[in-house]
Order: sequence, then structure tokens, then C-alpha cells
Amino acid sequence: MDERQLSFDELQTELTNVEKEAKRRIQDADTLKSLEDVRINYLGKKGVLTQMMQLLGKMPKDMRPKFGERLNELRGKLEAMLQDRHAFLFQEQEKARLQAETIDVTLPGKMPARGGRHPLSIIVEEIENIFIGMGYTVQEGPDVEWDTYNFERLNIPKHHPAREMQDSFYITEEMLLRTHTSPVQVRTMLQMGGKTPVKIICPGTVYRRDTDDATHSHMFTQIEGLLIAPGIRMSDLKGTLLTFARRLFGEETKIRLRPSFFPFTEPSAEVDVTCSQCGGSGCRVCKWTGWLEVLGAGMVHPNVLRQNGYDPEEVSGFAFGLGVERIAMIKYGIDDIRHFYQGDRRFLKQFVAGDRFL
Ligand code: PHE
Repeated sequence: MDERQLSFDELQTELTNVEKEAKRRIQDADTLKSLEDVRINYLGKKGVLTQMMQLLGKMPKDMRPKFGERLNELRGKLEAMLQDRHAFLFQEQEKARLQAETIDVTLPGKMPARGGRHPLSIIVEEIENIFIGMGYTVQEGPDVEWDTYNFERLNIPKHHPAREMQDSFYITEEMLLRTHTSPVQVRTMLQMGGKTPVKIICPGTVYRRDTDDATHSHMFTQIEGLLIAPGIRMSDLKGTLLTFARRLFGEETKIRLRPSFFPFTEPSAEVDVTCSQCGGSGCRVCKWTGWLEVLGAGMVHPNVLRQNGYDPEEVSGFAFGLGVERIAMIKYGIDDIRHFYQGDRRFLKQFVAGDRFL
């Protein structure tokens, strides 16, 4: 644009064109960003209007005030239009943002998967509580055990045939995975140093070289019991086990003791409870005998007392060991011991509802 050749009228037309064009572009700007580009294009440092201002100086004097006035007028108009458009676009943008951020509070939430306690943990605690109620305390021992504690000090010397009752996983000559919880008897007696009463139960995992099937597992859970005090008799054992069986399986439960053999108890017994499924009349679960074998027990052998710091002339005691899986299977009607170890949630979740379902 060469100003010197333009007449005032032509400049006037030029301004009108600029105004029209700017107006259109402002209306067309559909984002704040493109609106800002339009603003810079017209009002920026090198913008159209700014450049026109610079022409003022080169105009004939008499044209300047008028033209200047018109330019300012136009600037004012553009500013107002830009502001309006800006307000509008800003509002639109906010609307869109709020729309995008809308949360449907009526949608159902994502429930976190709720963990639960393993049925074996539930039943171990239940059994613990029964014995705690009778004044026992809970002891623990290591899974990796000395041969002397697992066998020798329980009256099972090396090469004794009784070792074959419990095929073992040896770690070294002297160390193995405990085959029963009875070594905790030894540990407790040694720790008590001949003092009475000893009154403990001990839950724990035990290991045997067994082939896994529906009723056998190379790794399972036992709870050991041991009571030593002056004058403890077989009838105390029987009364204790009857109380336990009734609390766990119901008040009508009966028990019976059958003669058995364990190197660390004398006499020894296998203890049966009346079948909790049929109440003793005979069913599939108890193989039509009416009885279920649930634990081994007996009077602590004098050799065991003697070997672990107690005088069998002064004190006597009883011990028992029960298989937790077997008890859980009977109590809940579980037909395969392997369910306990497979972590199948369909199995596990039956034992979870609230904190305690069973
Ligand atoms: N420890 C024996 C077993 O695992 C069970 C038992 C414990 C028997 C205590 C008598 C006394 O077979």
C-alpha cells in the first residue's frame, strides 16, 4: 500500500475492508489459540493496525487527525470484538472441560477383590482357642529340625524301625524337615528345664515323603499338645480330648481310644470321634463305622521325660497330635486334601464372607 497515492476516500475504504475482514476472522476463530493469532495479526507489534499507524507520519498533515481518529476507532472496535469472542470461546472451553470431567456417581464402583483367611488358618485358630480356654499356651518350632529333636529325644534312635513310619526329607545327616510337631515337645521340655506344669499346644507344618493323593500330602498341618505335671493320668488325657472334641464337633460327640503304638508315648492310643456327618449311625464319610480317627495320643514315655530333663518318678504327662487337614475335611465335608494347597479361589471363597463365615 503506497499511502501517497491513496486518497482519503481510498484509505477510508481500506479501513472498512480491514474492519470487515477482521470481523469475519474473529467470528471464525473457534479456539482461543486461533483467536489470539487473529489478535496478533491485527493489533500485535507488527500487526495490520500498527503498520497503518506508522503510515500516519507520512501522510499530509491535514489527513492525519481524521485518519488517526478512524484508526483508533477501529482499534477500539476490534478490541471489543476480540474480548467478546474471547469470553464466548472461554466459556465454551470450560463447558467442554466440565462435560469431559463429569463423573457418573450412579455407576457401580469397582470392588477391590477381598482376601480371606485360609480354611486351615481358620480351623487352627479355632482349635487354638479351645485349648487356650483350657489354659494352654501356643508354642512354635522350626520346620527345619534337628534329627535329635525330631527322633532321638523322642525315643526313636537311629535305625529304629519306627523311623520308617515317617519317611523323611533330609537336608543333611543331622537335619531334616520335621515329620511331625512332636519335636516342639522336646524343645519346650528343654526350655522349661524340668519345671512344671508344661501345658502347650503347637500348630505347624510337617513334611513326609508321601505320594500325594486325595487323602495324603507330602506337606500338611499338625497340632501337638503336651501336658506335664505331677500326677497326670490317662483319664486326664481322655477328659481333655473329650472336651476338645465336643467343643469342635458338637456336644453330642463321643470319643473312643484304641490301643496303638508310638515310641514316645506309653501307653499309646488312636483317638476316634463319632462321625459328625451321620452322628455315629454310619455313612460314606466314616466308611459305615460311625467313627472317624482324628488323632494320636498317649502318656509321655518315661524315656522321653528322662531324656529331656524330667524325672518320671516325680511327674507324668500326656501328649497328642492331630492332623488339621483331616479335621477340616471332616468338619466341612471336603473330599480332597489337595484343595487346601491349590489356591483355587472357587474353593477358598466358600470360607470367606465377612471375616468369619464358618
Ligand atoms: N507325632 C505323632 C504322629 O505324627 C502323633 C502323636 C503326637 C502321637 C503325640 C502321640 C503323641 O503321628
